[in-house]
Amino acid sequence: MILKDIQNIYHKELDAIYGKNEVDSFFYWLIEYYFQFNRVTLVLEPQLALSKTEEQCLFEALARLKQNEPIQYILGETEFYGLTFNVNKHTLIPRPETEALVSWVISHSLSLDKEKPLKILDIGTGTGCIAISIAKNLPNASVYALDVSSEALHVAKENAKRHKVNVTFIQDDILNVSALNANNLNAFDIIVSNPPYVRNLEKQEIKANVLDYEPHLALFVEDDNPLEFYEAIVHFAQKKLNKKGALFFEINEYLGEEMKHLFISNNFNEVVLKQDIFNKNRMISGKK
Ligand SMILES: C[S@@+](CC[C@H](N)C(=O)[O-])C[C@H]1O[C@@H](n2cnc3c(N)ncnc32)[C@H](O)[C@@H]1O
Repeated sequence: MILKDIQNIYHKELDAIYGKNEVDSFFYWLIEYYFQFNRVTLVLEPQLALSKTEEQCLFEALARLKQNEPIQYILGETEFYGLTFNVNKHTLIPRPETEALVSWVISHSLSLDKEKPLKILDIGTGTGCIAISIAKNLPNASVYALDVSSEALHVAKENAKRHKVNVTFIQDDILNVSALNANNLNAFDIIVSNPPYVRNLEKQEIKANVLDYEPHLALFVEDDNPLEFYEAIVHFAQKKLNKKGALFFEINEYLGEEMKHLFISNNFNEVVLKQDIFNKNRMISGKK
């Protein structure tokens, strides 16, 4: 079948769900991934035909897109901070807003005049996107990454290998601090986390492709205890950060003031709440 005709079928089947431009993006993303073609190929070779096996890949992807499955899970990878990360149904798909958190941690680290290498911990690492991007950009730092999910850690370890960085991965439950103490995790200069923070009451704002496919373990918290992870991590950080060590979080846009209060009431200093380009509260940091 001619590639251009398959693109037309994609539009016929998917435009009502995603809109024309997004369907084009999906199509170019898929032909690049499967056949190393790009959009120029379609213009230069309008009669380009695919074999039956090649067609099959695109029709399978089409069926999965029709079911709202995120394209990143179909391809098994996504881009984050200029690197390609493996993803699967056990890992959250890294988001562009989290890149801003990584930039913040890296610029803070570079501003420190340190003789000994920095020791940095990422809590709730998922694909390892935060820890690995930091390790790639701060080659002298000792980077640790923790997650409760063994499946997510498996993906994170593959990603660390893919990007040739040395990250120490730990499987543990941040909500169970007594067990964590046994891990001898101490003396960090920086702790960073993008923990689960979406309240059940916000589910109606969440798109079907997220709700039906991304791991709920990575996303949701109880409505009556939305800061559970942040409280546990703040208390952990009080004990495990070095003096003047810094704690960085991605946060729920609706809970910026509550997060500020959490930092201040736990004696953190120099608390900074940051907004994203849409002026939504998105990140916070404080120093011990
Ligand atoms: C919002 S995702 C963040 C993933 C990744 N850091 C990112 O920014 O894309 C939260 C992560 O926390 C992990 N997690 C959930 N409950 C946890 C717990 N009790 N202890 C440690 N990690 C947990 C999930 O498995 C998930 O990988």
